[in-house]
Amino acid sequence: MEARTVDFSRTTITELMIPSFANFSGKVHGGILLGMMDKVAYVCAAKHSGAYCVTVSVDGVEFKEPVEVGELVSLSASVNYVGNSSMIIGIRVESLKPKTGQKKHTNSCYFTMVAKNEDGSLMQVPKLIFQNNEDIRRFWDAKI
Ligand SMILES: CC(C)(COP(=O)(O)OP(=O)(O)OC[C@H]1O[C@@H](n2cnc3c(N)ncnc32)[C@H](O)[C@@H]1OP(=O)(O)O)[C@@H](O)C(=O)NCCC(=O)NCCS
Repeated sequence: MEARTVDFSRTTITELMIPSFANFSGKVHGGILLGMMDKVAYVCAAKHSGAYCVTVSVDGVEFKEPVEVGELVSLSASVNYVGNSSMIIGIRVESLKPKTGQKKHTNSCYFTMVAKNEDGSLMQVPKLIFQNNEDIRRFWDAKI
């Protein structure tokens, strides 16, 4: 199986925060953001593995700043680590107020995804090719 670079599957999704995403205080509901994180993690894992993937665990989800309706939320995901069938996807979430250009880093988190074969068994995923020191640092941090 051919190894793949981190860039091969790097993914960014940007979405406008609309009123139906808001909770009672007018801020975006945490569950909406969690759903977006799961989606970007899936896209990144599916690109790397070329397979159907499932979410196994979620680490480090912490909402540091509230997100408001009208903001543009960008989620940047990359494969930090691969095992046999598992991949740890690192996700950075940023929110931008388009009128002022003000950006905030709302959180960073880690989703473990596993690739599956058609019959539901675990699938071996491609190894990771490191292109720079950052790729290596993230790999070792994830392994630890
Ligand atoms: C996660 C799942 C695949 C584990 O299956 P299993 O038969 O216990 O397999 P293993 O123990 O060999 O684990 C498989 C891989 O997942 C990893 N893994 C298992 N549990 C984990 C956890 N809690 N956190 C991180 N990684 C985990 C293992 O380290 C292993 O990685 P590797 O293949 O790279 O070595 C299985 O429980 C499953 O399919 N769960 C449902 C997932 C799902 O449907 N999610 C959608 C949301 S409902």
